[in-house]
Amino acid sequence: MLAVTILAAGKGSRMKSTLPKVLHSLGSKSLVERAIDSCHSSKPDRQFVIIGYQGEKVKNALSHLSELEFVEQKEQLGTGHAIQQVMPHLEDFEGDILVLNGDVPLLRPETVEKLVSIHQKNGNDATLLTANLPNPKGYGRVFCDSNNLVTQIVEDRDCSAAQKQNNRTNAGVYCFNWQALKTILPKLSTNNDQKEYYLTEVFDYLDKVMALDVDDYLEISGINDRRQLAIAYDILQARIKEAWMIAGVTMIDPNSITIDESVQLEADVIIEPQTHLRGNTVIGAGCRIGPGSLIENSQLQDNITVLFSVITDSVIASDSRIGPYAHLRGGVSLGEGCRVGNFVEMKKSTIGNNTNVAHLSYIGDATLGNKVNIGAGTITANYDGVNKHPTVIGDRTKTGSNSVFVAPVNIGTNVTIAAGSVITNDVEDNALAIARKKQKVIPNWPTKSK
Ligand code: UD1
Ligand code: CA
Repeated sequence: MLAVTILAAGKGSRMKSTLPKVLHSLGSKSLVERAIDSCHSSKPDRQFVIIGYQGEKVKNALSHLSELEFVEQKEQLGTGHAIQQVMPHLEDFEGDILVLNGDVPLLRPETVEKLVSIHQKNGNDATLLTANLPNPKGYGRVFCDSNNLVTQIVEDRDCSAAQKQNNRTNAGVYCFNWQALKTILPKLSTNNDQKEYYLTEVFDYLDKVMALDVDDYLEISGINDRRQLAIAYDILQARIKEAWMIAGVTMIDPNSITIDESVQLEADVIIEPQTHLRGNTVIGAGCRIGPGSLIENSQLQDNITVLFSVITDSVIASDSRIGPYAHLRGGVSLGEGCRVGNFVEMKKSTIGNNTNVAHLSYIGDATLGNKVNIGAGTITANYDGVNKHPTVIGDRTKTGSNSVFVAPVNIGTNVTIAAGSVITNDVEDNALAIARKKQKVIPNWPTKSK
């Protein structure tokens, strides 16, 4: 049997935040959710999260993970005290317990699996992850005997100058034999600089404790302040982008690009500088995105170009061209081969194939057919101050520049709308609609000058 316990009760004072540290986001997920995720493939039988500081908030943020059991640590008296809180819940439990700090978000699931497997193969009392960090400041230092068994962990602030020279650091990720751990937990003292119950004190008592060095020391990065949060974000982004480049995606100036791990990209996508892809976004083969674009929760088929534009919650069919400076702000379904150009805003609209909205338009709550040409400055006036109303424009219809459609209004197919028209009534197929005053010319008008 395997139980997991994630320590997430601390305030995280060094974050200088009203939000509990473990709820700070690293990309699309919170720190604590990432710690939980890293244990997933080890298939635990029970999963505890120790909550305390703003515990309800932490619990709510994790409410979508139904398998979690929350245990309250009323006062945060240290990591050892935190783990003492699960004792009543594991009275009859036999097996191993994996303990992770909730602020260690970059662990790979394979690393956690390896820890458990080495622990079990060797029949250890405890096994912990360690790394030789180039800059171990702030981490506990791990000391071993001549057989490479751990004898002691000393916190950075409790280290002597000589002990500080040891770069082997404690990741805050442990696998314990529960029988061995539970007999020692009641013995913990507060004999340290912070006067807290340290979980790391158990290593003074446990016998067979092995340290497992991680291959990639970046994995054990712990987050105590916002500088470390920013560095962790860079590490995460580098992993995501490297994987996509290996899978056949070109990135120009990758350091300026950010991609959530939930994004899917196909081969031969080109991503230009300053582009950000978020949420459940899918980008099809041959698309060229950027520079300067933000795409969130949107599905793009193949060979689409997006230049300096923002697209949210929308679906775009193949071969369309978007931008520069277009804003598809939700609920847009764009057909194949469309062009959405400069300074065009669209929302909740369905656009047919090969339709152009090339310049300076607002299209909202509208349905446009195929091969429609929307002239520069066309506006759907969809809002009467209380309700939103639809505009429907049929296939092959052309709207003149600066036309306004006062919704609800239905325009047929093959219609021509004269420039500058304010259309308030429906227009039948094949008609010309003109709704503006006739031009008046007064000849020989004297020019005024001082
Ligand atoms: C801890 C380790 C240190 C290790 C480092 C790795 C101890 C004493 N020290 O130090 O050896 O190198 O992690 O990142 O364990 N928490 C509670 N209840 C508490 C106190 C803390 O749940 O009473 C939680 C925090 O929310 C956090 C985690 O435990 O998620 C670690 O606490 P933190 O104070 O950050 O420990 P470190 O000083 O980083
Ligand atoms: Ca920490």
